[in-house]
Amino acid sequence: MVSAYAPGKAILFGEHAVVYGHPAVAVAISKGVQVSLSGSDSWTVGNRPLCPNRHPHLNWLVERNNLTDRPMSIKISSELFPAAGQGSSAALSVAAQLALAEFSGLSTDTVDAAITAHQAEAYAQFGRASPTDTATSSLGGCVVVSNNLSGTADTIFRASLETPEGVMEWDIGTVDLTYDDMPHIVLGHSGAPSQTGKMVSMVAELISENQEKKQDLDFIGELTLMGLVALRSGAWEAVGMTMDVCHEKLRSLGLSTPVLETLIEAVRPHSLGAKLTGSGGGGCMMALTYNPERVAQTIELSGGRAIITPMHCDGARVLKS
Ligand code: MEV
Repeated sequence: MVSAYAPGKAILFGEHAVVYGHPAVAVAISKGVQVSLSGSDSWTVGNRPLCPNRHPHLNWLVERNNLTDRPMSIKISSELFPAAGQGSSAALSVAAQLALAEFSGLSTDTVDAAITAHQAEAYAQFGRASPTDTATSSLGGCVVVSNNLSGTADTIFRASLETPEGVMEWDIGTVDLTYDDMPHIVLGHSGAPSQTGKMVSMVAELISENQEKKQDLDFIGELTLMGLVALRSGAWEAVGMTMDVCHEKLRSLGLSTPVLETLIEAVRPHSLGAKLTGSGGGGCMMALTYNPERVAQTIELSGGRAIITPMHCDGARVLKS
């Protein structure tokens, strides 16, 4: 048997804008997805046949790795809320790619896994997906994605994708965050699903009809650069304030929900900053805080489900038994 683990992610700044080449900053969280493979007579996922509609990422990865004729049984065990803005499908794609590669003697390099998993995500998201979730899950730590990193982070690799808007290219880099006084992140799940493909298509439609909304995305790009400067200098209050403004712009794009607003308002007195994270329309909010237990309790008392995670965590890996 072969297993691999990949963490979920939280986007600090830049969701949606990054799909159009603006920068985004994300960190790997302490919960993730484990994929285990063992030999079998037919391709199965959790004892059911591998179905392209139910598992488009997995089916795409099996075909991409030319493994259709080498059937395996796939077991998935996830600590992440599904469809909740925690990057569960990216973590699944990354862990599955690493496990498939280990099983078949292919490269288990995390950059290779990030590139292949990004293509799988894009396939499942109707052709539009930035490499943010897959790169963060693969590399771990704090990841910056942009069409031009220009010195903001150390470049690790480039990703490109044929999208309905043309060929998009991104540089992917990492930022070293080693400070003694790092706050925690608390994620609060609203209980409603967040469908990334649908939300990304909704934003695409909105900006094609309304130039002002396009400016909201441009502004998120500028905020992200400001937030990155604050992050690199450990100016946590400024990081939190930038998160707050980012949330205002995401809300103006119609991506928040009444439950997300309730959770965000409830945690503000105990947080440096709070915003929705991921594609929105449901899913999770996140808070940056020095008082994680208090924030988690507030989220639970307001009807959400909380996860406390350090500022950043390690990336994907093959698990040796
Ligand atoms: C989803 O976690 C982040 C989005 O920006 C989509 C993407 O980057 O592909 C909404």
